Amino acid sequence: MALRIENNYPLKAHNSFGMDVLADRFVEYSAEDELREALSLASGWNAPLLHIGAGCNLLFCGDYHGTVLHSAIKSFDVLERNDDSVLVRAGSGIDWDEFVQKCIGEGFFGLENLSGIPGEVGSSAVQNIGAYGVEVCERIERVEVLDVESGQKRVFAADECAYGYRDSIFKRPDHKHYIVLAVCYRLSTVFEPVLTYAPLSLMNPESLTANDIRNEVLSLRNSKLPDPAVLGNAGSFFMNPVVAVSKARSLASEYPDMPQYPATDGFVKLSAAWMIDRCGWKGRSMGQAGVYERQPLVLVNLGGASGEEVLALAHAVIDSVYEKFGVYLRPEVNAIHS
Ligand code: EPU
Repeated sequence: MALRIENNYPLKAHNSFGMDVLADRFVEYSAEDELREALSLASGWNAPLLHIGAGCNLLFCGDYHGTVLHSAIKSFDVLERNDDSVLVRAGSGIDWDEFVQKCIGEGFFGLENLSGIPGEVGSSAVQNIGAYGVEVCERIERVEVLDVESGQKRVFAADECAYGYRDSIFKRPDHKHYIVLAVCYRLSTVFEPVLTYAPLSLMNPESLTANDIRNEVLSLRNSKLPDPAVLGNAGSFFMNPVVAVSKARSLASEYPDMPQYPATDGFVKLSAAWMIDRCGWKGRSMGQAGVYERQPLVLVNLGGASGEEVLALAHAVIDSVYEKFGVYLRPEVNAIHS
């Protein structure tokens, strides 16, 4: 495959908010050597670089005056087979849900709770995607990256990736020069359902298959989350805030029905959806940007919204949650200005 280079390229199909913006250049590579070639060309263009996955966590606030890079590396290899597990190496450009489906089909288990998450394999390792009782870092063994600064390939073991809730070392500004080439997942060949998330705990573990979990998760997601093909959105716009135990206790005494979840020592995770809901935002809109009526963590493009309009709504939500609960919501979505 050859490197794909497009000028004045529409990004509408590359961002799940459906923002109708242009990139000065769009470059898509299908192999490591093509990425090196792209980077060497880009160094001559003297313009900013933005690496995207499926664009499910981005909010474009205007045309992008620079080069947008995208991986189309789609290799899938089984590197090791043991009695009860396999090590699968997946290219960063594989669609996440196609990957989950393929793994289940091959009899490789552990990712079924993460069915239906929009995005690609590369971003799964950057965002540490998580849902329905599973975080992908539990299954990641190593991440292969290209260091844009040195031109060298480097392998990060999972314990070097500083994984946390929706967090990894690859999100830090001083690690932005790493581009994920492939991710190695340790998957089980013996199916063990994870049913810790409340709605899944109602399933009968007897004779349950990975496809049963997948179907249940897909139907839960469909019932709560808008389809980006119909209503532009980037999933949860905000992260669930993690606060000190003392703050959580004082909130619990004022709001006894407030959901609280265990986090790392000394901290408690709160529900952003619950707080936004209690501030009365569900189903409200500002201009063409709205708070989704069935899941207030999700901001939606009601049709032709600008990035700035979505950001104005996000700031209004953040302000009102802070005023009522004294808790600062942090966006999970990255706003791109250029
Ligand atoms: N809630 C309300 N009102 C609502 C919806 C929810 O009060 O309209 C409260 C309920 O009390 C509920 C609580 O919020 O128990 C939590 O809701 P839910 O279980 O749906 O999970 P979440 O915190 O809203 C997180 C992830 C989702 C993931 C689900 C399921 C984040 C930021 N979001 O949402 O991830 O699918 O858990 O595990 O952690 C995404 O990242 O795009 C995403 C959708």
